[in-house]
Amino acid sequence: MSPRKPSATPALGTYPATRMRRNRYDAWTRALVRENTLTAHDFIWPVFVQEGRGKRTLIDAMPEVFRQTVDTLVDTVGEAAALGIPAVALFPVIPPEKKDGEGSEATRGENLVCEAIRAVKAQVPGIGVIVDVALDPFTDHGHDGVIRDGYVANDETVEILCRQALVQAQAGCDVIAPSDMMDGRVAAIRRTLDANGFDHVRILSYAAKYASGFYGPFREALGSANSLGRADKKTYQMDPANTDEALREVALDLEEGADMVMVKPGLPYLDVVRRVKDAFGVPTFAYQVSGEYAMLKGAILNGWLDGDRVILETLMAFKRAGADGVLSYFAVDAAKRLKAG
Ligand code: PBG
Repeated sequence: MSPRKPSATPALGTYPATRMRRNRYDAWTRALVRENTLTAHDFIWPVFVQEGRGKRTLIDAMPEVFRQTVDTLVDTVGEAAALGIPAVALFPVIPPEKKDGEGSEATRGENLVCEAIRAVKAQVPGIGVIVDVALDPFTDHGHDGVIRDGYVANDETVEILCRQALVQAQAGCDVIAPSDMMDGRVAAIRRTLDANGFDHVRILSYAAKYASGFYGPFREALGSANSLGRADKKTYQMDPANTDEALREVALDLEEGADMVMVKPGLPYLDVVRRVKDAFGVPTFAYQVSGEYAMLKGAILNGWLDGDRVILETLMAFKRAGADGVLSYFAVDAAKRLKAG
């Protein structure tokens, strides 16, 4: 820039001595003063696994996300690992005939999710495998626990969740992610894991999980939407109106032994991410859930939003809010974009 004639001693700290746009003048200064960065290491990729071989099926409300069989899943997980994505989160699609009121299939060591864990651990070295603990993929009523007198019974559910966590740990998963919102489940799962020699298996707790409409496409993907019908999960998932309560949930899960905590959904709850990170300073993750994916992807495919811009922008928003990482269906797409520069 050529120098301009100096004006009479401007007051420091205010315009015109201070011009915020100076640091935005060149790409190199913008890079130098950038406060947050996004890399493939920030992502956890949620994936859906179904029974069978060589099958990939579409999910209506999640364009370009597939339910995959174990054989094709390991290939795509391998691709994610090669892009530098540290971990995947596995979600099983259980056929209706294997669902019942108690979610019995969840505790069977040869079930689909355990098979997927074994295959990924054997065939994709180095990638972390995270698996939910919750009964909703396995129950015919679609709730995360067992129902007694019309209510999702807390303590009985926790006992089942411990058995679910154990078979998943025995199958070789690295991280147990309780997504059920029962009280006391983190402590119970920690005790069960330790008592069985799995003291290195980590717990990523869905600590502040809200009763959100943004899980709709996920429930379609799992086939749990039909099971749930018009019911909701408001007696165990949090009220979207609350944030102090989120801090109590996180505090309890940390006391009970959670290694990492999660806020869910993501973008509409970044205030909660920030409060959690500031209050506890622990590894904090956020889940950009299926409905957030659907909103963005739908608009991108319609040409209403520019995917080249908004995908990385939304993921950066999580970093800005203090998240250490993001679970996102865009993980592979975003990692490719970052690699391309
Ligand atoms: C299961 C579970 C849900 C999600 C992750 N684990 C759905 C729910 O609680 O109803 C939602 C993920 C998404 O919407 O992408 N407890």
